[in-house]
Amino acid sequence: MQEIRIERVTKRFGALEVLSDVDFTIGKGEFAAIVGPSGCGKSTVLRMIAGLDKPTEGKVLANGKPTGKPSPERVLIFQEHALYPWRTVEDNVGFGLELAKVPARERRERIDEVLEKVGLSGFQHYYPSQLSGGMKQRASIARALIMNPEVLLLDEPYGALDAITRLTMQNELIKLWRGTGKTVLLITHDIDEAVYLADTIYVMSPRPGRIISRVHADMPRPRNRNSTEFIKLREQIMDHLDIGTYSI
Ligand SMILES: Nc1ncnc2c1ncn2[C@@H]1O[C@H](COP(=O)(O)OP(=O)(O)OP(=O)(O)O)[C@@H](O)[C@H]1O
Ligand SMILES: [Mg+2]
Repeated sequence: MQEIRIERVTKRFGALEVLSDVDFTIGKGEFAAIVGPSGCGKSTVLRMIAGLDKPTEGKVLANGKPTGKPSPERVLIFQEHALYPWRTVEDNVGFGLELAKVPARERRERIDEVLEKVGLSGFQHYYPSQLSGGMKQRASIARALIMNPEVLLLDEPYGALDAITRLTMQNELIKLWRGTGKTVLLITHDIDEAVYLADTIYVMSPRPGRIISRVHADMPRPRNRNSTEFIKLREQIMDHLDIGTYSI
């Protein structure tokens, strides 16, 4: 199990300050979410946790150690699904195991198991172009899960999905997460999604991104989107993001 700590992180790309003094901790096994306006540095935070980028100032730590380079313990599911179009579902999903030189038989067993989990049994031999948008996303989640990572980093994983598939995938994600002890960080534009899924929601300001609020959602799951408490939290986050109603 891994604790993720972002310690006073500032990130600049040349003269552009993207993140400013960002500081938070995600506990072991916690489900955290970040919401914030486009371009405020959310993906940059994830990339640093995944070890794909480094802070300009401050530290990004996993169990107290800098996340200097990518590790199979922390996998990132990208904003775009990024499956290899020339590989079938099973060859996409098994790619990480192939790199890790896991023998073919074990690979096949683990592929079958994970495809079952994400509801893609029977689609082993399909190519990405033959899948629906939701199925592609599930295949890319399977590709991450098969590595059995301790930390799951999800960057707008459902952004491209239709509303119904999105709701189903949210429930699937909770089912997958429960009881695994995995630490999850989900980036989303969808406030409702964050309140539905996460234990803790961090709200970021426009660039340079700072954490402007930390909201706890300790409602039991499955959560009722129409409950008073749910609506209150959603409103609270919208207030922080300064999304008001328009006046006539
Ligand atoms: N490798 C890079 N080089 C230069 N600038 C970058 C790089 N990566 C990100 N940026 C800049 O950092 C800022 C934040 O980008 P980031 O992708 O983290 O935003 P985001 O919050 O994920 O936005 P969105 O919600 O639209 O996905 C943007 O202004 C972007 O141009
Ligand atoms: Mg992004």
